[in-house]
Amino acid sequence: MKIGVLISGRGSNMVAIVEAVASGAIPRSEVAVVISDKADAAGLERAREHGVETCVIERNGRARGDHDAEIIGELQNRGVELVCLAGYMRLLSSLFVAAFPGRIVNIHPSLLPKYKGIDAQGQALESGDGVSGCTVHFVDEHLDNGDIILQREVPILAGDTVESLSARILEQEHLAYVEAVGEIVRSKGRLPLILGLIT
Ligand code: GRF
Repeated sequence: MKIGVLISGRGSNMVAIVEAVASGAIPRSEVAVVISDKADAAGLERAREHGVETCVIERNGRARGDHDAEIIGELQNRGVELVCLAGYMRLLSSLFVAAFPGRIVNIHPSLLPKYKGIDAQGQALESGDGVSGCTVHFVDEHLDNGDIILQREVPILAGDTVESLSARILEQEHLAYVEAVGEIVRSKGRLPLILGLIT
């Protein structure tokens, strides 16, 4: 399966996917391109170090649909079949969602539907919950919405800070994203598939 990854920043989930494709943990696949909407995203260099083609498509004040149309074009030119959002900090337009029906996934650092949006880890800490985690889900045009594919739980410990909790969740994000993408590939497009909660 040809995979395109969209990033805006650090790119650690992108690297997890690239390495899992290389090792075969995500079988019969290729990361065809990593696209960033930020020219200074640290993940771009990390993708190049892994030999993956990169592409910067900044918004430059354009309407969301015009920006998305350029990204869609770059993905389609490379035959991308599955789009993975990995710290991509923009909502997708309905144009984008329609171009890849049931073929766009995202990772979010909370047990959705709890704590959508930014600072999900901080929201979880403030809530007093004893557990948080991460969610891989299909993407629609709404923020952190769409059917859940897989979740992994993480304990919230006494004395946790946003940094310590985020780091503990991030370890599980890398595992969850690789597992979910692997299952999507193995399902050969028989989507949707729901894998459930892993603790
Ligand atoms: C991750 O916590 C992901 O869940 C969220 O943004 C962060 C991206 O981190 N959507 P990275 O760029 O993959 O390292």
